[in-house]
Amino acid sequence: MTDLRVANGPRRGEPAVSNAIAQSSETMRTETVASAYGRWAPVYDLVFGPVFRRGRAVSIQAAERIGGRILEVGVGTGISLPGYDKANRVYGVDISEPMLAKARRRVAALGLDHVEAIEVMDAEQLDFPDASFDVIVAQYVVTAVPHPEKALDEFARVVRPGGEIVIATRVGAEKGVRKVIEKTLMPVTQRLGFRTDFPWERYTDWAAERRDVRLIERRPLPPLGHFSLVRFEKLAEPARAAA
Ligand SMILES: C[S@@+](CC[C@H](N)C(=O)[O-])C[C@H]1O[C@@H](n2cnc3c(N)ncnc32)[C@H](O)[C@@H]1O
Repeated sequence: MTDLRVANGPRRGEPAVSNAIAQSSETMRTETVASAYGRWAPVYDLVFGPVFRRGRAVSIQAAERIGGRILEVGVGTGISLPGYDKANRVYGVDISEPMLAKARRRVAALGLDHVEAIEVMDAEQLDFPDASFDVIVAQYVVTAVPHPEKALDEFARVVRPGGEIVIATRVGAEKGVRKVIEKTLMPVTQRLGFRTDFPWERYTDWAAERRDVRLIERRPLPPLGHFSLVRFEKLAEPARAAA
């Protein structure tokens, strides 16, 4: 494991942990994340395949309750694509070309003709008109993008009214030792392309700012309940502002 004292260079007499926490402010950049996943691509399925298997299955099940045209953001190596019923049309986008190269090979090898396209695209700047999809699926992605709320805004823009945003996500601990550890690890994990510290309030605060989305579900996911399935509905009629 990386020695945080070396990685973060505390001043003499300063505890390593507090120094790491101080530097855990968000410094992620899209290019850094893209190159981190370029490095993950050759081993991604081996390392993260089994660990998120259940979460992916649950997300797909949730997405298919609506079904139709589905956008999977951060589709990566396309590991989830064979899990969708072929009655749907799935559009996969991701910021990392090496991850997508694996996805394209998978689509060809398995004859996944329900996959409409696989394209490099930034979750924070989706190149689709408003209301283009019935469902947006984002599995283990929101905590990897530099500006998660910007990505969530894009999901809400490209999903149709009455559609859903289905997210499998890490949610940080609210207090205690786990929270300290998660904050401490942030400088290291951000360089690897993800956050360990991601408070639940980022989702609820985001939804509270908008009148066109409603949180409809949060369900714990394995491993260890550190992850959740989160579903938002895009309202057919935006809620009225409070008087
Ligand atoms: C932890 S992986 C999850 C991959 C896949 N969804 C899964 O279930 O295993 C995160 C993915 O998000 C992608 N990603 C990170 N930032 C992104 C962004 N700004 N726009 C689109 N994809 C992004 C990464 O390239 C990577 O493929």
